[in-house]
Amino acid sequence: MTVTPVYKQGWTMEDIHWSLFDPSKVDPILLAAVKAAALVEYNAPDYVTYLKRVFADSHPATLADIEQWGKEETQHGRALGAWAEMADPSFKLEEAFVRFRKGYTPAHFAPEQDGSVRGSRRGEMIARCVVESGTSSYYSAIRDASEEPVLKEIAGRIAADEYRHYKLFYDTLHAQPGPDLGFWKKLWIAIGRVREGDDDELAFSYYCANVPPEKEAITPYNRRKYSRLASQASMTVYHRHHVQKLVQMVVKAVGANPHGWLANLAGALLWRRLSAKVA
Ligand SMILES: [Fe+2]
Ligand SMILES: [Fe+2]
Repeated sequence: MTVTPVYKQGWTMEDIHWSLFDPSKVDPILLAAVKAAALVEYNAPDYVTYLKRVFADSHPATLADIEQWGKEETQHGRALGAWAEMADPSFKLEEAFVRFRKGYTPAHFAPEQDGSVRGSRRGEMIARCVVESGTSSYYSAIRDASEEPVLKEIAGRIAADEYRHYKLFYDTLHAQPGPDLGFWKKLWIAIGRVREGDDDELAFSYYCANVPPEKEAITPYNRRKYSRLASQASMTVYHRHHVQKLVQMVVKAVGANPHGWLANLAGALLWRRLSAKVA
């Protein structure tokens, strides 16, 4: 059994043991998934602007936490991108990112959008908890699956950050004044955010990361196709226990028992859904 090192907050690119890189251990499917993940992570600054708008007039400490969170997410993109460039020198993070940005701009990032698209700050925090549950489970799965030591380290560092992000947003959720949202409302927001995993963000990032610009004309973007390829790549690393952990974190965020019937049912349903997507 391998012991996962404890990675503390505040690591930098220089802390990664790049010299241990072993090209013979690079798995091509994992590489494709890492390239796509790098683009999504690297897109954090837009989300920082949006979240600061949602939390405008909050305590300065909350705004500082959002800033710090965004810096860490961007660094995730930089670290994953740097690893992918080592593993495949034809991949260029900045170049792929420009294409991704051009084709993917969710409506809620538009400057004229006021407040949270989730209806309230509490709703926004539940949606954030869902995303951080997903990323912390996903990078744990990549860490466990990777035979390549540098990717294993990067994924381990990121997974630890994502778990801390979850805690930050969970605490921010509970620090909000005013009445709590009803259970069904919270569950509805969480399910809505899980379903957004089907939107263009994952499919289009996979496309921009893995179809080079010179092949765009002969290989046009198709959401269904690239959503399926992205899911297939993710499912090569996921095991049932990673998905269960994800569900437990989400269930806790909506205020239910992470070891109760809801978590068991939701875990089974999500696993079935993920498996069916790639069948
Ligand atoms: Fe991240
Ligand atoms: Fe995160």
